[in-house]
Amino acid sequence: MTEPVYGHLEFPAAPAERPYAYINMVTTIDGKSVTGMRTEDVQDLGSSLDHATMRTIEATADAVLIGAGSLRATAKLQYAPRLARFVVSRSGDLDLSSPFFVKSPENAWVVTARAGAKRLEGRAHCLVAGEADVDLTEALRRMRVEMGIGRLLIEGGSELNASLLALDVVDELFLTLAPLVKLGRTTPTYADGEALSRGALLGFGLLSSISVGDEVFLRYKRLR
Ligand SMILES: NC(=O)c1ccc[n+]([C@@H]2O[C@H](COP(=O)([O-])OP(=O)(O)OC[C@H]3O[C@@H](n4cnc5c(N)ncnc54)[C@H](OP(=O)(O)O)[C@@H]3O)[C@@H](O)[C@H]2O)c1
Repeated sequence: MTEPVYGHLEFPAAPAERPYAYINMVTTIDGKSVTGMRTEDVQDLGSSLDHATMRTIEATADAVLIGAGSLRATAKLQYAPRLARFVVSRSGDLDLSSPFFVKSPENAWVVTARAGAKRLEGRAHCLVAGEADVDLTEALRRMRVEMGIGRLLIEGGSELNASLLALDVVDELFLTLAPLVKLGRTTPTYADGEALSRGALLGFGLLSSISVGDEVFLRYKRLR
C-alpha cells in the first residue's frame, strides 16, 4: 500500500473574524478542474491516492464549503457525518434530497442571501448573509464567531474558489496535479472568476511538494 501523502497536518490558529481557510482541488497539468463538462462530476481525475488525500485533508477541518455548481454536478457527494458542511448558493436552487442534505441533516447548511433563503424557507438550514448577493465575508464571520468554526476546507468549484480568493480570505492552497491535459477555453480551472489586475496578484509560498508516481501534491501558504 502507498504511504499517505500527508502525515500530521498542522495549521496556525484561526483569526478572530473568520476561520483559517484552505482550498483543496485536483487539476490537469493544464490547470483544468474537470474531465467532462462543468455540469458533470470528476471522479476520474485524481488517483486513489488523491482521493485518500482528500479524506486526510477533510479530517483536519471543522467544516467544508462548496459551491452549488459542484453539488449539482456531483449529486452523490457526501462527507463524514461529523463535518459541518456548507454549500454556497445565490439562487437556492438545490436538490434537498441529495445525501449532502439527508445524511446528518443537522450539519448541512446553505450559505445564501435573503432571496435564496426565502426559496428554501423551512426546508434547509440557511446561513443568511447579504440581501441580493451573498456576502461571503459576513458568512465566514458568522461561521467563526457564532458557530465556532476554526478550520474551513473549501473544495471548489472554480467560481466559489475565485470569489474567496478575490476577497483574500484563503490561507492555503492544496493542489494535486494529475498527469492529464484537458484543454478548452471555457473549461473550469482551479479558480475562474474575474481576473485580478497585474498589481493585485496574490502571492503564495510553497510549503511542500510531494510527487508520487505521476502525480504531484502541492501545498501553498498565502504570503501577507
Ligand atoms: N477538480 C476538483 O478538485 C473539483 C472540485 C470541485 C468541483 N469540481 C468541478 O467543478 C465544477 C463546478 O464548478 P463551478 O465553478 O461550475 O461551480 P461552483 O463554484 O461549485 O458553484 C458555482 C455556484 O455556486 C454559487 N456561488 C459561487 N460563488 C458564489 C458567490 N460569490 N455568491 C453567490 N453564489 C455563489 C452559485 O450558485 P447558484 O447558481 O445556486 O446561485 C454559483 O452558480 C463541476 O464540474 C465539479 O465537478 C472539481
